[in-house]
Amino acid sequence: MVGRNLNQLNKRMNSLWQKRNLIVDNFIKEKNLKLVITDIRNIFYFPFNKQQNYNIQDIASRWQEFFDEHNDYNDFVYHLYLHIPFCKHRCTCCNYYSIEPRNIKQIFVFLKYLNKQIKFFKPVFKNISFKTLFLGGGSPSVLSADELNFLFKILNSSFNLKDTVKIFEANPSDLNKEKLKILKKFNIHKLSLGVQSLDSDVLNKLNRNYQKYKQICRVAELIKEYNFNKFNIDLLLGLKEQNANTFIKTLKLILQLYPNSITLYSLTPTQLYLNQYFNSNIDLFYKKYIELIKDLENNIEPVLKEFGYVMDSSLDKLLTAEVTLKKLNDQSFSGIGELYNDFSNKKEALLGLGPSARSYIYGKLNYKQKPEIRLKYDLLSDDYMGNKLELRDEMVKYIVKDVFDNQQIDLYKFKKIFNKDLEGVFKHEITALDKANKIFIRDDKLKFKYNNIEDLFKATIFFLDENQIINVMNNFRDN
Ligand SMILES: C[S@@+](CC[C@H](N)C(=O)[O-])C[C@H]1O[C@@H](n2cnc3c(N)ncnc32)[C@H](O)[C@@H]1O
Ligand code: SF4
Repeated sequence: MVGRNLNQLNKRMNSLWQKRNLIVDNFIKEKNLKLVITDIRNIFYFPFNKQQNYNIQDIASRWQEFFDEHNDYNDFVYHLYLHIPFCKHRCTCCNYYSIEPRNIKQIFVFLKYLNKQIKFFKPVFKNISFKTLFLGGGSPSVLSADELNFLFKILNSSFNLKDTVKIFEANPSDLNKEKLKILKKFNIHKLSLGVQSLDSDVLNKLNRNYQKYKQICRVAELIKEYNFNKFNIDLLLGLKEQNANTFIKTLKLILQLYPNSITLYSLTPTQLYLNQYFNSNIDLFYKKYIELIKDLENNIEPVLKEFGYVMDSSLDKLLTAEVTLKKLNDQSFSGIGELYNDFSNKKEALLGLGPSARSYIYGKLNYKQKPEIRLKYDLLSDDYMGNKLELRDEMVKYIVKDVFDNQQIDLYKFKKIFNKDLEGVFKHEITALDKANKIFIRDDKLKFKYNNIEDLFKATIFFLDENQIINVMNNFRDN
């Protein structure tokens, strides 16, 4: 009898592995795997579960429920994100939601709406101190001096931002002395400038030929004069017309400005960009991209050394994450870390405001404001889309992050965070992985046997159930 049960269990475990493997395999065949790998970091945000519409009242109620249910709500780390959905000129490559404002009235209407939205959430968050405030977009820097003052006044009077680390994303072409003074007064801690490239051919294809190095130099000087704690510059890799030589030229010009950090992003090509410049062919894009990275691997180090900078990881990490170039021994990095970007597998929650902003109520709801700007805003319309979360989903999120970052699951830490044994909660998954000879345990760590990123991807996604895998996969397809 026992033997028969064991046999049945064995069969079930085999089929669990086969079933989930098959879903992922079919998907990988259907869609280019490289895109999957690029996108995997987004898995933490992807709806595991079914999507539903919500209005602002529903959303506020979920937050209130969360605070009421968690006596320990003060042990959580809270982040606030504001999405300013405007750019003076849209770059052809951009995958963020923003529009070129038709007139100043459009920005005014948006700010009035944001004001109402902030006031609506104010009472719900009255006991909460935010650890970070990230003003992103789009380009929050398009706001005029008066508009920035208006926004900061609302924020200061609505939320507890006394000890908050504040980060502001800017297009350097929008900045001037007056705006920088206002940012400094609001205590912006980190100012991050999007530059992308300084090569005129690349900029032309980007619709960014308004950008001038002289202006960037002036802004960099002012940033130093006002003594912002951190000054970062973003560059993009994989752009049309880019090659290792022109990239190194750009990099040298940027290094002469001595920012605290330079963040290198690999382009996630939008369909529009692929259609425009790569014959709608993603393989062509990746072929060029991989050539560029190979060429750069050979000659980036001496340049960094010359300017006293180091890379936080090798360039081959670029497909799955950004790479940061940092000044050697830069004190401004100690103790602060990249708090917002690290929103991941910890007890954290995020309130996002503005079109396309994502939010996260731990163990309860993962939602996004719909990306649209309207002339008439009605606070109570169904402006949000979200999916419910359970504690088990938080566990999966923790696992996915741990496996992808460290290629293992720390069983001790898992137990400490969730007060449960991993082997107890995910008994079937672990038995099936073990039977398929994909894992082993050493030093309280569950380790994975894998030959390539595809194997690791499969092992990671394995902890989601079949419906969740299908939801995540459909999301990859839609994005
Ligand atoms: C929201 S933008 C803010 C920067 C600012 N608006 C600017 O570009 O001047 C943040 C960063 O995202 C990066 N980015 C834009 N489009 C991207 C894409 N398709 N794939 C990867 N990164 C992208 C750029 O490096 C950009 O600096
Ligand atoms: S990269 Fe920056 S400036 Fe360009 S469209 Fe995107 S958000 Fe706007």
